[in-house]
Amino acid sequence: MNATNQRKHDHLRTIAHDPAVERGRHYFDAIRLAHRALPELALAEVDPAIDFLGKRLSFPLLISSMTGGSAKVFQTINRNLALAAEAEGVALGVGSQRVMFSEPAATKSFALRPFAPTAPLLANLGAVQLNYGFGLKECRAAVAVLDADALILHLNPLQETIQREGNTDFRGLAAKIGGIVRQLGRPVIVKEVGAGLALADARLLVRQGVTILDVAGAGGTSWSRIEHHRRAAADAADDLGLVFQDWGWPTPLALAALRPLRSKATLIASGGLRSGLDMAKAVVLGASLCGLAAPFLGPAQESAAAVRVVIQRLRREFTTALFLLGCRTTARLRGNAALLVAPPA
Ligand SMILES: Cc1cc2nc3c(=O)[nH]c(=O)nc-3n(C[C@H](O)[C@H](O)[C@H](O)COP(=O)(O)O)c2cc1C
Repeated sequence: MNATNQRKHDHLRTIAHDPAVERGRHYFDAIRLAHRALPELALAEVDPAIDFLGKRLSFPLLISSMTGGSAKVFQTINRNLALAAEAEGVALGVGSQRVMFSEPAATKSFALRPFAPTAPLLANLGAVQLNYGFGLKECRAAVAVLDADALILHLNPLQETIQREGNTDFRGLAAKIGGIVRQLGRPVIVKEVGAGLALADARLLVRQGVTILDVAGAGGTSWSRIEHHRRAAADAADDLGLVFQDWGWPTPLALAALRPLRSKATLIASGGLRSGLDMAKAVVLGASLCGLAAPFLGPAQESAAAVRVVIQRLRREFTTALFLLGCRTTARLRGNAALLVAPPA
C-alpha cells in the first residue's frame, strides 16, 4: 500500500478511536430563527427542492468529500454513498483522488456514475498539488473517472502543516486555480476542509473566475486533531496538532463574512452542520447548499439504506424548519436576514 492510501487508512482508524476529532462545537446553536405561529401554509405543500449544477436536488444537501482508495472499505463507502445520493436526490463529493495517480487500483472506488446516473457527482483534488507536479491533465482525469459534474479543489494548509510529510508550499495557488478554471470545461468548486475560507481568500478566488465556494469552516471534524495522532506516533511530546485543533473560522461566521460576495459566487456551507435545522440556519446566512461529511462515515460502512436514513432525517428537519418559518420553498430562506432573531440589545 502506498503512502497516500496508508494515510486514508490511518484517518479512518483515528476517527473510529478518538471521538474528539468531532469537535461538536455546535456554533449554529447561537443562531435563532424567527418562529411563526401562523405560517399560513400546509406542511404538505412545503417543497425544499433546489437546482444545483443544472440538476434537481430534493433539498440542499451535499454529502461532502471523504474517501476513496484501493481497499475494499473505500469502495464500499463510496458505493453506498452513491446509491443513497441517487435514491434520495442529493449531491455527492468523493475524497481526494490523488491516490489514483500513484495507485491505479484505487481508480475503481471513484467510478461511481453507474451507481448514481443522475445525481450531481463532484471530483476532488488538493489544490496544493498544483504546486507539486499536478496540472490540467490530472484534473481532467479526476473528472473523467467519475463523469463528474464539477471538480472540487480543496485547500488544507493547516492539515498539511500538521502532517510531517505535508505539502506546505502554497505560493501562487490562486493563479494556478484560475488556470484550471479557464481550461477544465467543467465548473471548479474551491473549499477548505474544516478551518474556513476568509473573505480575502474568497475575493482572490472570485477574481480568478471561481463561482462556487464551500467555506468548510470549524466546528465539526478537526483535521488538525486527526493528523496529530500520526504526528504523536513519531514523537509523543509533539502536540502541535492539539494546539490548533479548534483553529479556524466557525462556519456561521465564515458564511456571514462572505456576504459581500453572495451576488458573485454560489456559497456552500460545511463544517460542523449536524441537523436539518443547522442546514436551514446556513441557508438563511446565504448558503445555497449544505455539506455534511462525518455524520455519513459510519452509516456508509454499513449500507446504502443506513445512509438513506440519515438523509431522510435531515430532510425532515429541514422541511420542518421551512414550515415553522412560513417559507414554502428553500429560495424564500436563502440569505433572508429577516428570519434571524436579533439578540436583545
Ligand atoms: C473521513 C473524512 C475524510 C475527508 N476527506 C476529504 C478529502 O479527501 N477532500 C476534501 O476536500 N475534504 C475531505 N474531508 C472534509 C469534509 O469534506 C468536510 O469539508 C469537513 O469534514 C467538514 O464537514 P463535517 O464537519 O461535516 O465533517 C473529509 C472529512 C472526513 C470526515
